[in-house]
Amino acid sequence: MTEQIIILDFGSQYTQVIARRIRECEVFSQILRFDTSAAKLAALKPRGLILSGGPASVYGKGAPLCDPAIWNVGIPILGICYGMQLMAHRLGGRVEKGEKREFGHAEVEITGDSPLFAKMDSHQKVWMSHGDKLAKLPDGFISVARSQNSQFAAIADRQRKLYGLQFHPEVHHTPHGRQIISNFVHGICGCGRNWTMKSFIDHAIEEIRTTVGDNRVILGLSGGVDSSVAAALIHEAIGNQLTCVFVNNGLLRKAEAEGVQQVFGRNRHMKLQYEDATSVFLRKLRGVTDPERKRKIIGRTFVEVFQRATKKAGAARFLAQGTTYPDVIESVSIAGNPAAMIKSHHNVGGLPKNMKFELLEPLRSLFKDEVREVGTQLGLPREIVWRQPFPGPGLAVRILGAVTPQRLKILREADWVVIDEMKKADLYYKVWQTFAVLLPVKTVGVMGDERTYDNVIAIRAVESVDGMTADWVRLPYDLLARLSTRIINEVKGVNRVCLDISSKPPSTIEWE
Ligand code: XMP
Repeated sequence: MTEQIIILDFGSQYTQVIARRIRECEVFSQILRFDTSAAKLAALKPRGLILSGGPASVYGKGAPLCDPAIWNVGIPILGICYGMQLMAHRLGGRVEKGEKREFGHAEVEITGDSPLFAKMDSHQKVWMSHGDKLAKLPDGFISVARSQNSQFAAIADRQRKLYGLQFHPEVHHTPHGRQIISNFVHGICGCGRNWTMKSFIDHAIEEIRTTVGDNRVILGLSGGVDSSVAAALIHEAIGNQLTCVFVNNGLLRKAEAEGVQQVFGRNRHMKLQYEDATSVFLRKLRGVTDPERKRKIIGRTFVEVFQRATKKAGAARFLAQGTTYPDVIESVSIAGNPAAMIKSHHNVGGLPKNMKFELLEPLRSLFKDEVREVGTQLGLPREIVWRQPFPGPGLAVRILGAVTPQRLKILREADWVVIDEMKKADLYYKVWQTFAVLLPVKTVGVMGDERTYDNVIAIRAVESVDGMTADWVRLPYDLLARLSTRIINEVKGVNRVCLDISSKPPSTIEWE
């Protein structure tokens, strides 16, 4: 069994960040609900446990509690913020309501000799975000760091290997937080460095071979990062037992369908079934202007086309998907946790449950950055591995109003200029998303001596970490000037270019 650290999630918005930090230490980590039983935990044989922070108060009604038996499992436990308060509270300490919330940068002084702070200076900048605070230590614990606001910024019971931090070592604002995490997982829990993408790939290939045997697998390839990496990995394992089905819904960017066929079909010699369903999609979308209806029609049509395509591909036992770890973590919904309140509205492309396949999801345990690393190691080109996100309903949600072949052509050409200029400016891979949007209005212009009455293109460029929130990118003026000049000169039917300067929230990234 892979050596691992388990994180119990008490609803912190940073829980996934903790898991990623541990993996950066080359140790496998997974997130489980706060109420996972001690028996289940023990069966997984983790080398250590981390209790995440969370928005609750230990005295709050319905405060999330862990199985009290976990204190006796006998492995090291690190409680962070709420996790530390819970540990202290349950083991006989006292937690008090703080008069004011302590939020932001703080400095702590390390006062005790603790393996948690090995190789670290005695004064550390940290990030605090808590209301309640610890007022009395439980028996067996000592304080090993203090801040201006508290005697108990870090606590330890070395005998029982129980540790607590009032601050957040996982966030960037705690500059040496990585060292603390490394001290915990390597120094205290004794984990080695076994979680590398090379070892993951070797392992995954073996597992895919064992699971699949001599059966066949079908995979819906979208050209996005996840399905592309899944395809490359499975192909590495079972070669031509894998058939990739690529559906061209007619709503793709310029050269995209061609690019996928080049990379997977011609370069990697995969069995690729190309389904050009452009006319079906455009027929069903004819005259449709309502954004939600567009999405529904596209989602439904995709399922129909894909189902037909899989029949054509011949009998297969497995359906492979590029599901990643954030898709499978069971989210803990606790009032006050913003991560729990933001629900994705886009599950277009989800396949019906009645499809008679077993699922093969080789990337289920990986975070996005790990998926990218696997893709790179498997030799996929940068254009795919570092591709910007692209919505399932494609250009349809960037054409406001009806989707027609003419309007698609205009948007594709404008979008192509945006990508091209962003790449030339060396900015394309540095921002989350950049694209063009075709507006449903026409405006007056002059070209030469002629009055024109033509379309408007909006440029959207956003910075984001996960698509949940976003800020517009301050693109250099000379780049904006080139974008405007080129789009108006090169794209027939456009005489005006605007820049979208809205953040998310309150706007969304896509316009529909
Ligand atoms: P919004 O517009 O909601 O988008 O701010 C957030 C992120 O999700 C992408 N997006 C989608 N992705 N299917 C997808 O796979 C969809 O239907 C969809 N709609 C939006 C969007 O491009 C952005 O990265």
